[in-house]
Amino acid sequence: MRNLTPASITDAFAEYAKNAPSARTRSLLVSLAGHLHGFVRDNQVTQAEWNAAIDALTKAKDFTDDKRNEYILFSDLLGVSSLVDMVNAATTGTPSSVLGPFHIEGAPELANGGDLWRGQVGEPLVVSGSVKDDKGAPAKGTVLALWQNGGNGLYSQQDKTVSATNYHARLTVADDGSFAFSTVRPVSYTVPDDGPAGDMLRALGREAWRPAHLHMIVHAPGHKPVITEFFPEDDKYLDRDAVFGVRGPLVLPFHKVSDRAALPKNLAVLDKLPLPVWTARIDFTLPTA
Ligand code: BEZ
Ligand code: FE
Repeated sequence: MRNLTPASITDAFAEYAKNAPSARTRSLLVSLAGHLHGFVRDNQVTQAEWNAAIDALTKAKDFTDDKRNEYILFSDLLGVSSLVDMVNAATTGTPSSVLGPFHIEGAPELANGGDLWRGQVGEPLVVSGSVKDDKGAPAKGTVLALWQNGGNGLYSQQDKTVSATNYHARLTVADDGSFAFSTVRPVSYTVPDDGPAGDMLRALGREAWRPAHLHMIVHAPGHKPVITEFFPEDDKYLDRDAVFGVRGPLVLPFHKVSDRAALPKNLAVLDKLPLPVWTARIDFTLPTA
């Protein structure tokens, strides 16, 4: 096609892709190019502005290795990771949320009632709850993958002083769907902002803070795994999460409990927890199968 104009280039792109081997891939790429073309036309993007965008992507490679991926961070901070989660989410049950970069495969087994706190820095927290299906029946056999940061704000991957699996665990719920464990109260923290994704945050006048959260993947027999996270309702960053992960039903009250008899009986460290201790309850409902 010759004599292209700003108006005709999008149709030309679609025409050039008419032999694409996959119809879905063609459709996605033609749509993406169309949105980018529209962005350039609508904003009359200058050469210098486009060069700045390319430079940011080029710089991202210097901040990407096996521990950190600046491209995923761009996706997170742009809200795209969260949007992909939301458009694919089940419409019933406890909402899903973003995975983030700190999940590990092969985390150690934690017995129901087990302890992740181990006297480490921060405020101890007792989490108890249940996993049930949409009819209220216990989801026997469910395995919870759990991970979080420590009281110093760091995930194990960021903290050279702790083991690689600190605050990472897999817990199988009891046959009645219940579970409990002791841990440390997670704290709000900043996503890495020393790279080009951080430059974008600063250009937007935004902060890098995420509200404190407990990550969970719910592996229930007969269901797709649900990736989610839970937030304390008193966190000041709930309404400005850098990665747009907060959903209303995932925000939980955290209460201080002074009566040891009110804590789950099966806690391995029931007698050792300093009182008052933070508690949170997670009652997870699976999506309709
Ligand atoms: C997190 O949940 O820890 C996280 C999510 C997205 C980007 C960075 C961190
Ligand atoms: Fe996280």
